[in-house]
Amino acid sequence: MSLVSSLTTKLPKVGTTIFTTMSQLAAEHGALNLSQGFPGFDGSPALLALVEKYLRKGFNQYAPMTGVQPLREALARKTEVQYGQGYHPEREITITSGATEALFAAITAVVRPGDEVLVFEPAYDSYVPAIELNGGTPVFVTLDAPDFAVDWEDVRRKITDRTRLIIVNTPHNPTGYVWTRNDLDQLAALIQYRDIWVVADEVYEHITFDTYNHVSLAQHPQLRERTFVCGSFGKTFHVTGWKVGYCLAPAELSTEFRKVHQYLTFSTVTPIQYALAEYLNEPEHYKSVAAFYQQKRDFFLRQLAGSTFQWKPSQGTFFQNLSYQTKVPDYELAVRLTKEIGVASIPTSVFFHQKNDHKLLRFCFAKDEETLEKAAERLCQWPGFVS
Ligand SMILES: Cc1ncc(COP(=O)(O)O)c(C=O)c1O
Repeated sequence: MSLVSSLTTKLPKVGTTIFTTMSQLAAEHGALNLSQGFPGFDGSPALLALVEKYLRKGFNQYAPMTGVQPLREALARKTEVQYGQGYHPEREITITSGATEALFAAITAVVRPGDEVLVFEPAYDSYVPAIELNGGTPVFVTLDAPDFAVDWEDVRRKITDRTRLIIVNTPHNPTGYVWTRNDLDQLAALIQYRDIWVVADEVYEHITFDTYNHVSLAQHPQLRERTFVCGSFGKTFHVTGWKVGYCLAPAELSTEFRKVHQYLTFSTVTPIQYALAEYLNEPEHYKSVAAFYQQKRDFFLRQLAGSTFQWKPSQGTFFQNLSYQTKVPDYELAVRLTKEIGVASIPTSVFFHQKNDHKLLRFCFAKDEETLEKAAERLCQWPGFVS
C-alpha cells in the first residue's frame, strides 16, 4: 500500500491547453501553425545585439526585485509620452516575468476567498485559474459576435457587493476588439463608489489598425487610480520567449503587487532588462509596430479573397478571426483543417467557459509573407463544407 495519499487537484477544470494541443497537431501533420500567438520571425538584430552586450558586460546576477532602474525609468518616460500619465519609476512600476506573472500577481494581490471577479469572455486562458487559486469566483460577461463590444447593461447587472475585481483586455485576444474611451467611461461610472479594482491586460497596446487607437486605462484619471496595467515586451518586440513584462499601478497598489511578485519570482532576467531599457529610448521601435502588423493583416486578408470564409478586419492584436457557414463545431473544423489542408488555427469556443460556438476560427498573422501566402492559398482551397 502506498504511504502517499492522492493529491486533490486545485484546478479540476485545467487540462492541456488548446495552444499545446493545436501546436502538437500542427507538428504531427506538418501543418502551417497559425494557432499559437507568437511571431514567426525574430526580434530586431539591434535588440539582440544589446542583450549580447549586457550579457558580456557581466550583467548576469539578480536584478532588483522591482526591475532594473534604467528600464523602470524608460517605461515611465514612454508611458508619459504615450498616455500623458506619469508612473513613478521607484514606486509605481514593477518589471515581471512576462505579462502572465504580472496578471497573476495583480489578481493574487486583490482577490480573497469569496470574492467575485468579472471576466469578459471570450477570455485569455490565464485569468480564471489565477482567480480560482485565490479562492475567487469568476463571473462571466459574454461579448457577442459579430462585434464583441461590451454590453454595459450586462456588466451593471453582474456587479454585486462581492465583486472585487474586473479584468479588462484591450486590444482583445481573441476578438481583436479595441476598447473605446466610452467603454472606459462606462466602466469608471459603474465602479465609482465601490471597492472594485481593475486589472488591464494591455499586452497588445502597440498593435491597433485603421482608425482604431488603443486607449490605456492609465489614461483615464478615475480608472488609473484603481488599475494594475499589465504589459509585455515579448508581444511588442517579437520576443515572446524572453518573458519580460511589467505592471504599472499607483503606489498603494504596487506595494501589494510587489509583496506577491517578491515571492513568486522575486526578479526577472537581468541583461534583457538593460537591453530593453536602451532599446526603449528610441520611440520609433514601438511606434512602428502597428504599421508592421497592419501590413501583415492586410496581406493575409487580400490573399483570402475568393475563399469561402467571412471576416471583419481585426481592430487590433495579431489575430484575425475567420467565420464559416457549415454546421461543423469550430473545434472539429480546426482539427480537420490542420489534418486535411495543413493550416492550424484556434477554435474560439475554447475561450468561453461554456464553449460558445460562433463558427469562428482564430488565425495568428504574425508570420512571414511566405507562410501567410501558403496558408491563405490552402484556406482558399477549402470548399466551405466538410464531407
Ligand atoms: C491577452 C494576453 N495576455 C497575456 C499574454 C501573456 O503575455 P506574456 O507572454 O508576456 O506572459 C498573452 C500571450 O499570448 C495574451 O495574449
